[in-house]
Amino acid sequence: MNLIKANGYKDLSRKAANVISAQVIIKPTSILGLATGSTPVGTYEQLIEWYQKGDIDFSKVTSVNLDEYCGISPDNPQSYRYFMNQHFFNHVNIKYENTNVPNGLADDMEAECVRYEQLIADLGGIDLQLLGIGHNGHIGFNEPDSSFEKTTHVVELNETTRKANARFFETLDEVPKRAVTMGIKSIMQSKKILLIANGPDKQDIIQKALFGPVTPEIPASILQFHPDLTVVYSFE
Ligand code: F6R
Repeated sequence: MNLIKANGYKDLSRKAANVISAQVIIKPTSILGLATGSTPVGTYEQLIEWYQKGDIDFSKVTSVNLDEYCGISPDNPQSYRYFMNQHFFNHVNIKYENTNVPNGLADDMEAECVRYEQLIADLGGIDLQLLGIGHNGHIGFNEPDSSFEKTTHVVELNETTRKANARFFETLDEVPKRAVTMGIKSIMQSKKILLIANGPDKQDIIQKALFGPVTPEIPASILQFHPDLTVVYSFE
Protein backbone atom coordinates (compact mmCIF):
# COMPACT_ATOMS: atom_id res chain seq x y z
CA MET A 1 0.00 0.00 0.00
CA ASN A 2 1.29 3.39 -1.03
CA LEU A 3 0.01 6.11 1.31
CA ILE A 4 0.35 9.69 0.09
CA LYS A 5 -0.51 12.54 2.44
CA ALA A 6 -1.73 15.69 0.73
CA ASN A 7 -1.90 19.19 2.12
CA GLY A 8 -5.53 20.09 1.58
CA TYR A 9 -8.02 19.38 -1.16
CA LYS A 10 -6.23 21.16 -3.99
CA ASP A 11 -3.04 19.26 -3.32
CA LEU A 12 -4.98 15.97 -3.04
CA SER A 13 -6.66 16.66 -6.39
CA ARG A 14 -3.33 17.45 -8.05
CA LYS A 15 -1.64 14.35 -6.64
CA ALA A 16 -4.54 12.10 -7.69
CA ALA A 17 -4.61 13.68 -11.15
CA ASN A 18 -0.87 13.05 -11.41
CA VAL A 19 -1.40 9.33 -10.83
CA ILE A 20 -4.15 9.19 -13.49
CA SER A 21 -2.14 11.33 -15.87
CA ALA A 22 0.92 9.09 -15.51
CA GLN A 23 -1.27 6.07 -16.26
CA VAL A 24 -2.66 7.65 -19.45
CA ILE A 25 0.74 8.88 -20.63
CA ILE A 26 2.36 5.48 -20.10
CA LYS A 27 -0.60 3.60 -21.62
CA PRO A 28 -2.69 5.85 -23.90
CA THR A 29 -5.25 3.04 -24.41
CA SER A 30 -5.86 2.75 -20.65
CA ILE A 31 -9.15 1.50 -19.27
CA LEU A 32 -9.93 3.93 -16.46
CA GLY A 33 -12.44 3.04 -13.76
CA LEU A 34 -14.03 6.29 -12.62
CA ALA A 35 -16.05 7.48 -9.63
CA THR A 36 -18.50 10.29 -8.91
CA GLY A 37 -19.12 12.09 -5.59
CA SER A 38 -17.56 15.27 -4.21
CA THR A 39 -14.02 14.00 -3.75
CA PRO A 40 -12.99 13.42 -7.40
CA VAL A 41 -14.37 16.77 -8.67
CA GLY A 42 -11.04 18.54 -8.11
CA THR A 43 -9.15 15.63 -9.68
CA TYR A 44 -11.26 15.93 -12.84
CA GLU A 45 -10.77 19.72 -12.85
CA GLN A 46 -7.03 19.24 -12.69
CA LEU A 47 -7.06 16.67 -15.50
CA ILE A 48 -9.15 19.03 -17.66
CA GLU A 49 -6.63 21.81 -17.05
CA TRP A 50 -3.72 19.61 -18.09
CA TYR A 51 -5.68 18.40 -21.12
CA GLN A 52 -6.30 22.02 -22.17
CA LYS A 53 -2.58 22.73 -21.85
CA GLY A 54 -1.91 19.79 -24.18
CA ASP A 55 -0.30 17.62 -21.52
CA ILE A 56 -2.73 14.66 -21.64
CA ASP A 57 -4.55 12.98 -24.49
CA PHE A 58 -7.69 10.97 -23.69
CA SER A 59 -8.51 10.08 -27.32
CA LYS A 60 -7.65 6.41 -26.88
CA VAL A 61 -8.87 6.04 -23.30
CA THR A 62 -11.94 4.01 -22.37
CA SER A 63 -13.76 4.65 -19.10
CA VAL A 64 -16.04 2.49 -17.00
CA ASN A 65 -17.86 4.11 -14.12
CA LEU A 66 -18.43 2.37 -10.84
CA ASP A 67 -22.10 2.93 -10.34
CA GLU A 68 -25.38 4.60 -11.23
CA TYR A 69 -28.74 5.18 -9.56
CA CYS A 70 -31.65 3.04 -10.71
CA GLY A 71 -34.65 4.78 -12.20
CA ILE A 72 -32.96 8.06 -13.14
CA SER A 73 -32.41 8.98 -16.77
CA PRO A 74 -28.97 10.05 -18.05
CA ASP A 75 -30.20 13.60 -18.67
CA ASN A 76 -31.35 13.97 -15.06
CA PRO A 77 -28.74 16.24 -13.39
CA GLN A 78 -28.63 13.83 -10.41
CA SER A 79 -27.62 10.87 -12.53
CA TYR A 80 -24.01 9.77 -12.43
CA ARG A 81 -23.88 9.78 -16.26
CA TYR A 82 -24.86 13.47 -16.18
CA PHE A 83 -22.27 14.13 -13.46
CA MET A 84 -19.51 12.54 -15.51
CA ASN A 85 -20.44 14.45 -18.65
CA GLN A 86 -20.57 17.74 -16.73
CA HIS A 87 -17.46 17.29 -14.64
CA PHE A 88 -15.20 15.47 -17.04
CA PHE A 89 -16.21 13.90 -20.36
CA ASN A 90 -17.54 17.10 -21.99
CA HIS A 91 -14.25 18.88 -21.35
CA VAL A 92 -11.66 16.41 -22.62
CA ASN A 93 -11.17 14.49 -25.87
CA ILE A 94 -12.35 11.11 -24.62
CA LYS A 95 -14.71 9.63 -27.22
CA TYR A 96 -18.25 9.58 -25.87
CA GLU A 97 -18.79 6.06 -27.19
CA ASN A 98 -15.80 4.94 -25.12
CA THR A 99 -17.36 6.16 -21.86
CA ASN A 100 -19.41 3.61 -19.95
CA VAL A 101 -21.79 4.08 -17.05
CA PRO A 102 -24.18 1.33 -15.92
CA ASN A 103 -27.69 1.83 -17.32
CA GLY A 104 -29.92 2.48 -14.33
CA LEU A 105 -32.98 2.56 -16.60
CA ALA A 106 -32.56 -0.91 -18.07
CA ASP A 107 -35.81 -2.90 -18.11
CA ASP A 108 -33.95 -5.98 -16.99
CA MET A 109 -31.44 -4.91 -14.36
CA GLU A 110 -30.09 -8.45 -13.95
CA ALA A 111 -29.22 -8.52 -17.65
CA GLU A 112 -27.67 -5.05 -17.35
CA CYS A 113 -25.40 -6.29 -14.54
CA VAL A 114 -24.28 -9.24 -16.67
CA ARG A 115 -23.71 -6.91 -19.66
CA TYR A 116 -21.58 -4.53 -17.57
CA GLU A 117 -19.45 -7.33 -16.14
CA GLN A 118 -18.94 -8.73 -19.64
CA LEU A 119 -18.03 -5.28 -20.95
CA ILE A 120 -15.26 -4.95 -18.36
CA ALA A 121 -14.02 -8.47 -19.18
CA ASP A 122 -14.09 -7.75 -22.94
CA LEU A 123 -12.03 -4.61 -22.36
CA GLY A 124 -9.42 -6.79 -20.68
CA GLY A 125 -10.11 -5.42 -17.19
CA ILE A 126 -9.54 -2.03 -15.62
CA ASP A 127 -6.03 -0.59 -15.60
CA LEU A 128 -6.61 2.03 -12.92
CA GLN A 129 -9.71 2.31 -10.74
CA LEU A 130 -10.39 5.61 -8.98
CA LEU A 131 -12.36 5.23 -5.74
CA GLY A 132 -13.86 7.48 -3.09
CA ILE A 133 -14.96 6.10 0.26
CA GLY A 134 -18.25 6.52 2.12
CA HIS A 135 -18.39 7.27 5.84
CA ASN A 136 -19.55 3.70 6.42
CA GLY A 137 -16.69 2.32 4.33
CA HIS A 138 -18.66 1.77 1.15
CA ILE A 139 -16.86 1.72 -2.18
CA GLY A 140 -18.97 2.14 -5.27
CA PHE A 141 -22.36 1.36 -3.78
CA ASN A 142 -21.06 -1.74 -1.99
CA GLU A 143 -22.64 -1.12 1.38
CA PRO A 144 -21.65 -2.78 4.68
CA ASP A 145 -22.97 -6.32 4.61
CA SER A 146 -22.43 -9.77 5.99
CA SER A 147 -20.56 -10.88 2.86
CA PHE A 148 -18.67 -9.25 0.00
CA GLU A 149 -20.89 -9.01 -3.12
CA LYS A 150 -18.66 -10.00 -5.97
CA THR A 151 -19.77 -8.74 -9.36
CA THR A 152 -21.92 -5.92 -10.73
CA HIS A 153 -25.25 -6.00 -8.91
CA VAL A 154 -28.26 -3.98 -7.81
CA VAL A 155 -28.24 -2.66 -4.23
CA GLU A 156 -30.81 -1.25 -1.87
CA LEU A 157 -29.23 1.93 -0.55
CA ASN A 158 -29.19 2.24 3.20
CA GLU A 159 -30.38 5.32 5.06
CA THR A 160 -26.87 6.62 5.88
CA THR A 161 -25.92 6.65 2.23
CA ARG A 162 -29.22 8.12 1.08
CA LYS A 163 -28.91 10.89 3.69
CA ALA A 164 -25.28 11.58 2.71
CA ASN A 165 -26.36 11.85 -0.94
CA ALA A 166 -29.47 13.91 -0.18
CA ARG A 167 -27.36 17.07 -0.45
CA PHE A 168 -27.53 16.70 -4.21
CA PHE A 169 -31.35 16.40 -4.25
CA GLU A 170 -34.20 18.73 -3.25
CA THR A 171 -35.55 16.31 -0.67
CA LEU A 172 -34.50 13.00 0.90
CA ASP A 173 -37.52 11.37 -0.75
CA GLU A 174 -36.09 12.10 -4.18
CA VAL A 175 -32.90 10.12 -3.46
CA PRO A 176 -33.28 6.81 -5.29
CA LYS A 177 -33.59 3.71 -3.14
CA ARG A 178 -31.69 1.44 -5.50
CA ALA A 179 -28.49 1.66 -7.47
CA VAL A 180 -26.36 -0.56 -9.66
CA THR A 181 -22.72 -0.94 -8.76
CA MET A 182 -19.61 -2.81 -9.74
CA GLY A 183 -18.98 -5.49 -7.15
CA ILE A 184 -16.01 -6.01 -4.89
CA LYS A 185 -14.49 -8.62 -7.21
CA SER A 186 -14.89 -6.33 -10.24
CA ILE A 187 -13.12 -3.57 -8.31
CA MET A 188 -10.42 -5.83 -6.84
CA GLN A 189 -9.55 -7.20 -10.29
CA SER A 190 -8.42 -3.72 -11.41
CA LYS A 191 -4.70 -3.72 -12.01
CA LYS A 192 -4.21 -0.56 -9.93
CA ILE A 193 -6.47 1.21 -7.46
CA LEU A 194 -6.33 4.86 -6.47
CA LEU A 195 -8.38 5.65 -3.35
CA ILE A 196 -8.91 9.30 -2.47
CA ALA A 197 -10.26 10.62 0.84
CA ASN A 198 -10.64 14.23 1.82
CA GLY A 199 -11.59 16.00 5.04
CA PRO A 200 -11.49 15.32 8.80
CA ASP A 201 -14.74 13.33 8.58
CA LYS A 202 -12.97 10.64 6.49
CA GLN A 203 -10.09 10.07 8.92
CA ASP A 204 -11.83 7.53 11.13
CA ILE A 205 -13.11 5.34 8.29
CA ILE A 206 -9.77 5.43 6.46
CA GLN A 207 -8.03 4.31 9.65
CA LYS A 208 -10.50 1.44 10.08
CA ALA A 209 -10.52 0.43 6.40
CA LEU A 210 -6.77 0.38 5.91
CA PHE A 211 -5.53 -0.74 9.33
CA GLY A 212 -8.46 -2.57 10.94
CA PRO A 213 -9.71 -6.09 10.30
CA VAL A 214 -10.79 -6.99 6.77
CA THR A 215 -14.55 -7.39 7.01
CA PRO A 216 -17.59 -6.94 4.74
CA GLU A 217 -18.90 -4.66 7.50
CA ILE A 218 -16.35 -2.19 6.11
CA PRO A 219 -16.29 -2.96 2.38
CA ALA A 220 -13.21 -0.78 1.71
CA SER A 221 -11.17 -2.94 4.11
CA ILE A 222 -10.81 -5.53 1.32
CA LEU A 223 -8.51 -3.04 -0.41
CA GLN A 224 -5.79 -4.08 2.07
CA PHE A 225 -5.47 -7.23 -0.06
CA HIS A 226 -4.98 -5.35 -3.33
CA PRO A 227 -1.39 -5.67 -4.64
CA ASP A 228 -1.25 -2.15 -6.12
CA LEU A 229 -3.22 0.27 -3.95
CA THR A 230 -2.38 3.98 -3.75
CA VAL A 231 -4.21 6.12 -1.21
CA VAL A 232 -4.10 9.90 -1.48
CA TYR A 233 -5.64 11.56 1.56
CA SER A 234 -5.97 14.89 3.30
CA PHE A 235 -7.69 15.16 6.66
CA GLU A 236 -7.40 18.95 6.89
C1 F6R B 1 -19.40 7.33 -6.35
C2 F6R B 1 -19.10 6.27 -5.41
C3 F6R B 1 -19.19 6.43 -3.94
C4 F6R B 1 -18.40 7.63 -3.44
C5 F6R B 1 -18.49 7.76 -1.92
C6 F6R B 1 -17.76 8.98 -1.41
O1 F6R B 1 -19.29 6.88 -7.70
O2 F6R B 1 -18.81 5.21 -5.86
O3 F6R B 1 -18.73 5.28 -3.32
O4 F6R B 1 -17.06 7.51 -3.83
O5 F6R B 1 -19.82 7.84 -1.54
O6 F6R B 1 -18.41 10.11 -1.86
P1 F6R B 1 -17.82 11.57 -1.65
O7 F6R B 1 -16.62 11.69 -2.52
O8 F6R B 1 -18.93 12.50 -2.10
O9 F6R B 1 -17.49 11.69 -0.19
